Amino acid sequence: LGPDLDALDRSLTVLACPLCSAGLQRIEHALRCANGHAFDIARQGYPSFTTGGGPHHQGDTADMVAARTSFLSGGHYERIADAIAAASPRHGWCVELAGGTGYYIARTLDAVPDLEGVTLDVSKHAARVASRVHPRLASVAADATARLPLASGSVDLVLSVFGPRRGDEVARILAPGGTVVVVTPRAAHLAQLRERFALLAIGADKEARLRTTMLPLVPTGETELEYVVSLGPREVVDSIMMGPNAFHVDRSEIETQAAAAPEAIETTVSVTITTFSAAT
Ligand SMILES: C[S@@+](CC[C@H](N)C(=O)[O-])C[C@H]1O[C@@H](n2cnc3c(N)ncnc32)[C@H](O)[C@@H]1O
Ligand SMILES: [Zn+2]
Repeated sequence: LGPDLDALDRSLTVLACPLCSAGLQRIEHALRCANGHAFDIARQGYPSFTTGGGPHHQGDTADMVAARTSFLSGGHYERIADAIAAASPRHGWCVELAGGTGYYIARTLDAVPDLEGVTLDVSKHAARVASRVHPRLASVAADATARLPLASGSVDLVLSVFGPRRGDEVARILAPGGTVVVVTPRAAHLAQLRERFALLAIGADKEARLRTTMLPLVPTGETELEYVVSLGPREVVDSIMMGPNAFHVDRSEIETQAAAAPEAIETTVSVTITTFSAAT
């Protein structure tokens, strides 16, 4: 097994059986609860809580995860990561839902030395990458829209960045006084790229839907973050191929178009960062 079992073993403080809520123990290559449920740990060190599910339930492909790793390493979303870290409590447990490569939670753990983390993603490719990204981060494969493999009232900070989430479950796992930070794209987000490459639009109702999907949690603050980045051809391709557009466009066509575009394309990064907490 990989070097990250320390983080996984520590995370048993907050992980719980999604089938019966009992605590989990690691016995060799599996996590087990007292009621006989078992969850295998992959060679790369992440346990799987996913139970079957169709192809649409497998999350990002290996290529999408590679594009995401490559794009995020360019630092264009660092300001989003900084804003998240600034909203973090100074100690306790942090969980990222649909955390992908673990970029945002790892940056938060870097900024807050007394915080420990679990990142959850339905894609095994993402779970694999995230299992190596930070010594205080455990990675688990699980569905963010199902019952979460986490104990009730155990998590001080929940992050949800550009991914699916379920308010009732987030509310259940949140510790008293805990915070939730949700990052959603605004209409202007990467608008220049979407126009130039005829990409998927951002649902206009996304903002309105957010508050509904987060119930019973209540919003406690909202910040808009908007700035312009300049992307080279490789970064343009990565930014397109790391998201849902990857399922709709032809990679070689995008590569040809990106190569024919000016040296660098300026595009707007525009997100809303909303914090939530339990209703009082
Ligand atoms: C747009 S990416 C965001 C990843 C990460 N938060 C970031 O911003 O870098 C969406 C992620 O959600 C994952 N995903 C999709 N459906 C999911 C589900 N039902 N449960 C958990 N993760 C899911 C995908 O595998 C992918 O990693
Ligand atoms: Zn169980």
